[in-house]
Amino acid sequence: MSDSASEHYQHPHALVETGRVGRGTRIWAFAHVLPGARIGADCNICDHVFVENDVVVGDRVTIKCGVQLWDGLTLEDDVFIGPNATFTNDAFPRSRHYPEAFARTVVRRGASIGANATILPGVVVGERAMVGAGAVVTRDVPAGAVVVGNPARVVREAGDAALGRGTAAAQAHHQQDPPAQPVLPPGCALIDLPRIQDPRGNLSFIEGGKHVPFEIARVYWIYDVPGGEGRGGHAYRTLQEFIVAVAGSLDVVLDDGHEVRRFTLNRSYYGLYVPPQVWRSMENFSTNALVLNLASGPYDAEDYLRDPHEFRALTAERSG
Ligand code: TYD
Repeated sequence: MSDSASEHYQHPHALVETGRVGRGTRIWAFAHVLPGARIGADCNICDHVFVENDVVVGDRVTIKCGVQLWDGLTLEDDVFIGPNATFTNDAFPRSRHYPEAFARTVVRRGASIGANATILPGVVVGERAMVGAGAVVTRDVPAGAVVVGNPARVVREAGDAALGRGTAAAQAHHQQDPPAQPVLPPGCALIDLPRIQDPRGNLSFIEGGKHVPFEIARVYWIYDVPGGEGRGGHAYRTLQEFIVAVAGSLDVVLDDGHEVRRFTLNRSYYGLYVPPQVWRSMENFSTNALVLNLASGPYDAEDYLRDPHEFRALTAERSG
């Protein structure tokens, strides 16, 4: 970041109290920047932006109208902040009660925050990540990921987004259709279920011996998982299962001992078949998600592989 007291532009109605504004930066009408703030070069700070003291803004950062940057915030170089995006720095705000220290929130280089998104305190938005308009970001966003919704969920991992292709808006739109998914580990399968579409409401079903490749011995379901949370990090020695997001969505992270792949389930008319000896965890549940699991055997604690080292040893043995 380069500092220069004089070589930036500021609108006659901007109130800029800091001397540390980089060369070529433009600060527009009714923006107010407090004395402790540091603003880099070639930034564009639009009308009605407020910048508190303990704030660092890198070079070539765009901050659209109506954004407040509170104490504890760092925006690295080339960050884009959409209009009316909201940052927070106190997880439990009460009038006239101040935390000992404000949470540090960081938006890494090249990341974009969509209009009206809300970023909770202490979050790190990874490099070149894309936060969709209106998303509520409650946890760190991986580099290059696209997140949308409340709580914000990853709809695309590093890849196209990291390369600068696609937009969060496009991603949100694509949620109408099942999102592009990675190739599944060998033995795993995505299975379409019957879909009876009806203006009164749609209906899907599963018949034993027909729709899933094992005899169904047990049905259980998972609900009331707090939004963004997860459970079930283990493999089974012999059990097969079939997982359906009957309502809402979740990510199933699959590890066959060679590769880890994340798979989003967000429709009630297909499910994921997971064979034995694939490590699976269920993560990133949406609020009020209802996840149905069909299992090939009764509950048997002995069938669980909970120790990742034991799992690795088993998969290594299997492959060679
Ligand atoms: P578990 O499968 O261990 O869940 P997680 O891996 O997400 O922690 O199940 C949690 C508890 O629920 C465990 O103590 C056993 C009990 N349980 C049953 O009694 N029957 C079942 O069918 C399942 C799935 C779990």
